Amino acid sequence: MNHIYLDYAATTPVDERVTAAMQPYFTQVFGNPSSLHRFGQQAESALEKSRRELAGFLGAAPSEIIFTSCGSESDNLAIRGAAFAARQKSNANHLLISPIEHPAVLKTAWQLADLHGFEISFLPVDEYGMVSPTGVQENLREDTFLVSVIHANNEIGTLNPIAEIGEICQERGILLHTDAVQGAAHFPLDVNSFKVDLLSLGAHKFYGPKGVGALFIRSGTKLSPILTGGAQEFGQRAATQNIPLIVGMAAAFELVQKEHKQRINHILPLRDRLIKQVLTEIPSSQLTGHPEERLPNHASFVFDDVDGNMLISVLDNAGFACSSGSACKTGDPEPSLVLTHLGYSPSWALGSLRVTLGKDTTGENINSFLKILPGCIHQVRELKN
Ligand SMILES: Cc1ncc(COP(=O)(O)O)c(C=O)c1O
Repeated sequence: MNHIYLDYAATTPVDERVTAAMQPYFTQVFGNPSSLHRFGQQAESALEKSRRELAGFLGAAPSEIIFTSCGSESDNLAIRGAAFAARQKSNANHLLISPIEHPAVLKTAWQLADLHGFEISFLPVDEYGMVSPTGVQENLREDTFLVSVIHANNEIGTLNPIAEIGEICQERGILLHTDAVQGAAHFPLDVNSFKVDLLSLGAHKFYGPKGVGALFIRSGTKLSPILTGGAQEFGQRAATQNIPLIVGMAAAFELVQKEHKQRINHILPLRDRLIKQVLTEIPSSQLTGHPEERLPNHASFVFDDVDGNMLISVLDNAGFACSSGSACKTGDPEPSLVLTHLGYSPSWALGSLRVTLGKDTTGENINSFLKILPGCIHQVRELKN
């Protein structure tokens, strides 16, 4: 049986064109970019070319981009780095975040509160998990040093109005971070229209390699490094840069810029058909997240009286790879924090299913998935009761 992958929000395969771009940097151009000899300088030139490219696509200056090891690290550096830097220069102590942030932001914020005495407030969200600019306006305080609002939520796909939130934060002179790890796979992002000071990316969500990410840091924004040591990455992150992965990230990001329209035109009708048919054919089913303002490849549901993890394994046996809630929570029987926050009772929240499409997903893949899904849900409901 040919297994069909429908979990592209968890990760994507590396595009062959990206693998080809990375190849020489494993063996031929292997120098340490900090070395002064020609081996080092060749590596440095690939590093700086990748940085220029990535910066160009985001509307940033090359000196505003630093490479990290993943989206989680970018989030950690943005939040923790801004918190420690704020404490050094002022008595700002308050962090305002959305309750539907990825755990890389949420848990970093909780740790800052638990271990370092920072105060956190959560922004209100609507039934779709969307943050309103008014909510930001009303919750800013004199001592707020950072607002963090996810661009597109990984579990429910909802997109947030980052540009409008950016406008408010900029007027008040308060830093805004956005985790754009999911959205970067689908849309060109412009840090100036967003008016953000910090923006996190991770390459493996957009057909780049795992183990590499980036953080946009607007010029003038002070962050305390969290990985200390050498002076790499403008002194913001010690460690010898991983040139093949960085080259791969820039190549994959370039392909998103060139191909996003064609990719969206392909997946959007498939996603819409999938959502419509699931809601029509499966009793006690609901779409989670915003019906329109959502990632173009993202369909997420809750089913009453279904064990989501059991459903994933039944689907896997039937030949389909999906996820229940966030991929990071696989095996965790607790209902997802995001769904609980949105008011779903455990009986619904435990039955979540996320189906995320990729550029190579076909109409036939969706047809065969839709054919088996009702039976799989019926089977899981029977097993549970
Ligand atoms: C919105 C969001 N932020 C951050 C991350 C973490 O990225 P990484 O796996 O590159 O650490 C993910 C991954 O699932 C994500 O979806």
